[in-house]
Amino acid sequence: MPDNDAPPTLRGFLAALEAKDPASIWRVGERVSLDHDVSAVVMEMERSGRDPVLWFEDVAGFPFPVVTNVFGARNRFALGLGVPPEQLIREWGAKGRERIKPVCRERGPVHDVVRIGPEVDLASLPIMQHFACDAGRYITNAIVVAKDPDTGVRNASFHRMLVKGRNRLGTSLHSRRDLWNYAGRAEERGEDIPVAIVIGAHPVFTFGGLWKGPISTDEYEVIGGMMGRPLEIAAGRTIPVEAPVHAEIVLEGRILAGTREPEGPFAEFTGYASKRSTEHVIEVSAIMHRRDALYQDIIPGISDEHTSLLAVPQEARLLAALHDHYPNVTDVAYPKSGTCRLHAYIAVRRPAPGLARLLAATAFGDDLSLKLVVVVDDDVDVHNDSDVLWAMATRMQADNDVDILRNGMGAILDPSNRDGLTAKMLIDATRPHGDFPERHTLDPAALERARALIRSHFG
Ligand SMILES: Cc1cc2nc3c(=O)[nH]c(=O)nc-3n(C[C@H](O)[C@H](O)[C@H](O)COP(=O)(O)O)c2cc1C
Repeated sequence: MPDNDAPPTLRGFLAALEAKDPASIWRVGERVSLDHDVSAVVMEMERSGRDPVLWFEDVAGFPFPVVTNVFGARNRFALGLGVPPEQLIREWGAKGRERIKPVCRERGPVHDVVRIGPEVDLASLPIMQHFACDAGRYITNAIVVAKDPDTGVRNASFHRMLVKGRNRLGTSLHSRRDLWNYAGRAEERGEDIPVAIVIGAHPVFTFGGLWKGPISTDEYEVIGGMMGRPLEIAAGRTIPVEAPVHAEIVLEGRILAGTREPEGPFAEFTGYASKRSTEHVIEVSAIMHRRDALYQDIIPGISDEHTSLLAVPQEARLLAALHDHYPNVTDVAYPKSGTCRLHAYIAVRRPAPGLARLLAATAFGDDLSLKLVVVVDDDVDVHNDSDVLWAMATRMQADNDVDILRNGMGAILDPSNRDGLTAKMLIDATRPHGDFPERHTLDPAALERARALIRSHFG
């Protein structure tokens, strides 16, 4: 029986997942080597259309099992949030607007083992090299918690971490969001930024790391709101930043003011090795972990997991932004064919003339990374590339239905961008107004009978 009062944890989530669907976790008992092998297994599984969580029980003899691909399938986002899969995007938006303050504890399971100062050694963790192009071993599931140097408000965000030594990490704040802003303001005063780096926590903690909103919002309150209960935290052991007590592993350290060192290249979601880096450096002052900690990894590059982590929150944000003004918008997708970042598809019910263009323009304003937006009618499945391409093939004429905005601000990780500038293309692939043929459909009763027949034969 699941204990509904048990605090939300990564291990609790995985146990619930395995109980619900044992095939969704593959426990690999064979020893795999630290570098390259884990990513190779995940990418090969992905190529063959399989997406379980991979639980490597023996990575190069380390005492920590490595768990990866937790977010390789969208139904696991829904399970983490506690909502039906078909309501994931809408519920993500709704739950992300709730706030519950955290509660402070003296200690928790993450304090089972605490190593401070000279006892810190990053080589004790199974931090691995994922792709051949990577500069070295990276923590890819590092959720960095820091406090605004002026207000004390807490922010959580993902940042890759290159191991540079026993207690030294290199990182990049290239998304230039809240942590970049904090580090810049602190640096102007010659101050470091203390950070807690959380590796392995309940999925909702991960969702908090993806949450984007006003800089004045405390993201521990957002995580509490999404969980429907307060996040349990404890004071830092070497820094004035609190960390979740039910995490698997937490590192404490400081982003050093005025220090820059080479960092990268790194396999990015675009499918390329990226050399873009702000080259910040972190000195690690403590490593804390559960006695039997799970080391949670994310395969970077253009893996399903990495790109889904980008797509799901962005779809929720864009759908909410469009829906506020245009309630006939029915769905939004960031397809993997567009790296889950650079292209978006928008579905709309019975758009008035000219609305498709306004929707695309709103999307470009909302998300500077977008370089292509395709607007389709609501009979088109925006989660299916070939359905969208079919709408373009049959409902669009390029001389009338395509517009290009030149030299807009774009995603700097897009290797084709020109010094931060990119062209933005919108395609109106909605049905032309006036007399236009009906899409052919099947008789609903015949369809039901067909499904029953197919089920009885194939299960
Ligand atoms: C797996 C993953 C890795 C990421 N790595 C980085 C990174 O190395 N540097 C960075 O600046 N942003 C990175 N991001 C993006 C930010 O973490 C993300 O934009 C976050 O929502 C920013 O939070 P904020 O708006 O609260 O500042 C990554 C996102 C994901 C999903």
